[in-house]
Amino acid sequence: MVSPYEKNINNEEKNALANLAVSLVKNKTIIGLGSGSTIGFFLEHLAVRMKEEKLQLKFIASSNKIAEQADKLNLQLIGIEDVPFIDQAFDGADRVDLNNNLIKGGGGSLFRERQVLLKAEQRYILADSSKFTKSLLGQIIPLEIVPFNASFTIKRIESLGYNIALRKDGDNNFITDNGNWIADVSTQKSVSPADIYEQLKLMSGVVEIGLFLNVDYYILQT
Ligand code: 5RP
Repeated sequence: MVSPYEKNINNEEKNALANLAVSLVKNKTIIGLGSGSTIGFFLEHLAVRMKEEKLQLKFIASSNKIAEQADKLNLQLIGIEDVPFIDQAFDGADRVDLNNNLIKGGGGSLFRERQVLLKAEQRYILADSSKFTKSLLGQIIPLEIVPFNASFTIKRIESLGYNIALRKDGDNNFITDNGNWIADVSTQKSVSPADIYEQLKLMSGVVEIGLFLNVDYYILQT
């Protein structure tokens, strides 16, 4: 299975969100970059504003892909270990519920995205209208799992009643920037996201889960 979360829709809205987010960027700060197409638009627009206003910004990237894009735009990238905190982080999401809980990982960068968001003082989530849902019940949740003994990890998750599909990239397993795999987990409406988080996040072999619950975000919407 490829990512269950469609990437190439609502580009007009994503562009509008990107412009809104760019207007919130403060000069002389460290900016955390999430991943995904919306953040790609954000970076393009921000590079223009930086040139026009001679802004001095440094960037921390949550994926190799967004780092490559920043590099092409001649933006200054630094390592996450080089700073005690990030001023502002901008990221996308695959789903946002009424309490601002998120599903992320549609693009496969969930672990690094969480690290960037956790280290940020201000967190902005750019969400086009396709992302909003009343609740996260019954949704597909991406997991980053270690390839070592993965079939056993998967069996243990299945034994809890979940259906699981390894994400594919062509004929091969999708490989994350950390060298791991992504498993997309189908969940039942009867199990709460908090319980899913507890069960799966604590499972040995699971590196990260795409449920981002109870965190303070500014959700930007059109
Ligand atoms: C990547 C993510 C992205 O933030 C999410 O998939 C949103 O992507 P897009 O902006 O392309 O809709 O979590 O793992």
